Amino acid sequence: MLNWDNPLGKRDKTKKINTLFDAYTQSDALNNTTTSRQESNIQASINAKKTAEQQANSNRINLDTITAKAATPTAATQNSVAPVKASDKRVVNGLADVNQLAPFKYPWAWEYFLNANKNHWTPLDIAMAQDVHDYQHTLSANEKHVYENVLAYLTTSDILAMRNIGLAVMEKMTAPELQIYQARQVYEEALHTWTYQHCIETIGLDQSEIYNRYRVVPAINAKIQLANKRLNSVMRHDIDLTKDDELNNFVMAYTFFAGIFEGCWFYNGFTPIFSLQRRGLMKGTSEQLQYIMRDEVMHASFGIRVVKQIIKENNVKLDPQALRDMWDESEAVERDYAHYILQEPLLGYSADDHIEQFRFIANRRANQLGFDEPFAGAKNRTPWLDEQANLRKEKNFFETTVTEYQTGGVLNWD
Ligand SMILES: [Fe+2]
Ligand SMILES: [Fe+2]
Repeated sequence: MLNWDNPLGKRDKTKKINTLFDAYTQSDALNNTTTSRQESNIQASINAKKTAEQQANSNRINLDTITAKAATPTAATQNSVAPVKASDKRVVNGLADVNQLAPFKYPWAWEYFLNANKNHWTPLDIAMAQDVHDYQHTLSANEKHVYENVLAYLTTSDILAMRNIGLAVMEKMTAPELQIYQARQVYEEALHTWTYQHCIETIGLDQSEIYNRYRVVPAINAKIQLANKRLNSVMRHDIDLTKDDELNNFVMAYTFFAGIFEGCWFYNGFTPIFSLQRRGLMKGTSEQLQYIMRDEVMHASFGIRVVKQIIKENNVKLDPQALRDMWDESEAVERDYAHYILQEPLLGYSADDHIEQFRFIANRRANQLGFDEPFAGAKNRTPWLDEQANLRKEKNFFETTVTEYQTGGVLNWD
């Protein structure tokens, strides 16, 4: 069975199918090999430049002192002519110069950035004319309800995702290789918002009504408010991550956004529209969502890896009850959302299927995070959807116009 975490599909069918998560989280050896070459080249050029600068400007003001992140003088800033050491870097609360990319401590983060840039797409690349016809002449009232409300939820969510990573997370990272992928992620979240806007505009929906829907539909509002609560708890100027309780809260918030908001809600959030695609309807929109889904898999995977690194570096102990509550409250709002969106099943895909699928994916994310499964025994209710999504992905990325945007060689997501 194909796996949604491998949305591009594996070409080598003789190998056991791993998830995209596995590929990214278990390929340290490969990443280290690749990046150590890049690292030494970059480091050599930095060292040569530094030597030349020091000879020509023995009395110049030390730039490292100006650019060092630490507010108070430390051994690192006082001895600032010394090159940054990878071992000095930390995900948060680091004291190494944040304006020096190399040496890398987290070469895998750089690999995420390089991989994200191997493909570029815009919503204008995908034909939407048939979707306009489908919406106006073919969709039932129930199907229009699904389409509009899923878009209304997604478009608000992607703005929240952009604000989270760009305003609350990036500023707290103290290794530039992490920030650089997150900067790409900020762009991708904006691209996703453009995509929804393009769909809404092309179909001819009432924009102000769609964008306001999360305020007036309780089932959508509850999910947004749950995310807002997490975001607001870490988007404060007075936050101090050297304090255990603040760091713990930040880790919980990042876990929520990577593991649940992106890893479950986004990942599973496209399925109602994929159900329309399965009937041959709204295929342009579905193709747009497949591109978004690929990005979201990487966002969730990267975020989970960062969370695990923070936990390791700082010996963070998360409260098991707080984690249990996080899964439960996320499931509760997802349940209400599913019943609102899927008031009637679409090709047999019901609200109960959507909820069970949330639980199944939540277990997968918990395993990737190294936590206990929150919903033991949950079943995969959409294997047909996994297969369909993977087949379409392969076609999209290897045979259609998107490949024209590739830079840096052939795609290799493995
Ligand atoms: Fe997104
Ligand atoms: Fe995302």
